[in-house]
Amino acid sequence: METSASPAKKIMLSGIKPSGDLTLGSYLGAIKNWAERAEQFDCYYFMADLHALTTRQNPADLRRRTLEQLAQYVACGLDPEKNTLFIQSHVHEHAELGWILNCYTMFGELSRMTQFKDKSAKNADNINGGLFTYPSLMAADILLYQADYVPVGEDQKQHVELTRDVAQRFNNLYGPVFKVPEPYIPKVGARVMDLLDPTSKMSKSDDVGNGRVCLMDKPEDIARKFKRAVTDSETGEHCVRYDRENKPGVSNLMQIYASCTGESLEQVERDFAGQGYGAFKTAVGEAVIETLRPIREEASRMIADKAYIQQVYTEGAQKASAMARRTLRKVYKKVGLVERPF
Ligand code: TYM
Repeated sequence: METSASPAKKIMLSGIKPSGDLTLGSYLGAIKNWAERAEQFDCYYFMADLHALTTRQNPADLRRRTLEQLAQYVACGLDPEKNTLFIQSHVHEHAELGWILNCYTMFGELSRMTQFKDKSAKNADNINGGLFTYPSLMAADILLYQADYVPVGEDQKQHVELTRDVAQRFNNLYGPVFKVPEPYIPKVGARVMDLLDPTSKMSKSDDVGNGRVCLMDKPEDIARKFKRAVTDSETGEHCVRYDRENKPGVSNLMQIYASCTGESLEQVERDFAGQGYGAFKTAVGEAVIETLRPIREEASRMIADKAYIQQVYTEGAQKASAMARRTLRKVYKKVGLVERPF
């Protein structure tokens, strides 16, 4: 495997928790954006398995999903020769820097995170310390690799902003140790909403199946989910119209269609002028089916090839560790830890 490290290239890094099956939201909000950037950047993408532990997981399912997610990354176009793909827990520096950064992240900052508030409300019986300090670990994930850009969906922007604050605080105390990263959010598809409840985000850990589309869903299931998608009661020539506030269902479908076809929202409006919601929903379903078909077929083939998957994550962890080790060593020295004798 050739090394993709090149001093001229900026660094891009992102991760996804294997806490549920990847959805159309994970794809359009994040992975699609990653796959298009491999030539331009030095890219690191990982399975955030340590983050997944902040909500209760079935151990066998977590292990299976982590490996399936890697196969899906590759099937989505992330070539392991051009991107460093790894499992977060295989690079122990993440947990170690996470601890250090906990000591530089304020209680008040962590308390303001909307994801913490949402997840605490959803998991009232398991509001654990990890859920609270999750953003410090995420900051460690990013800062270990001196990332310039973090391609994420809208919901993760607040965490990247906190990462910037923590990096700046640390640099102010100790000198320029960390690169201060920027979020990289797609113009279309940054917030894919649930098809049955278009006021909430399409979520992979949500167990109600019909409002979300998974990467591995069969075409007939995708078609059925889009046929049932919630719209509104408007009729007439221009009912397919973008208005996030007053027409959340239709606007969400338009975003999905635009993101899958590469058309602008204005073009989508023109395409469907004079057509009703029935025809529109069928067309969106078809666009999604055709986008996901090659991914599903390739991922199914790859999931069966366990030796290949193992080779990808082994080589990925080796490359990632080399980079992570360098940053952590510098941090340990700066904060005053005695250098390891071995
Ligand atoms: P996670 O696993 O919840 O989501 C993974 C990525 O998918 C995006 N996303 C969406 N985008 C648009 N519409 C949606 N409905 C939708 N659902 C999810 C998310 O914004 C994210 O980009 N904390 C992160 C994982 C993480 C990470 C990191 C990301 C851990 N360490 C370091 C970047 C850098 C998370 O929980 O994402």
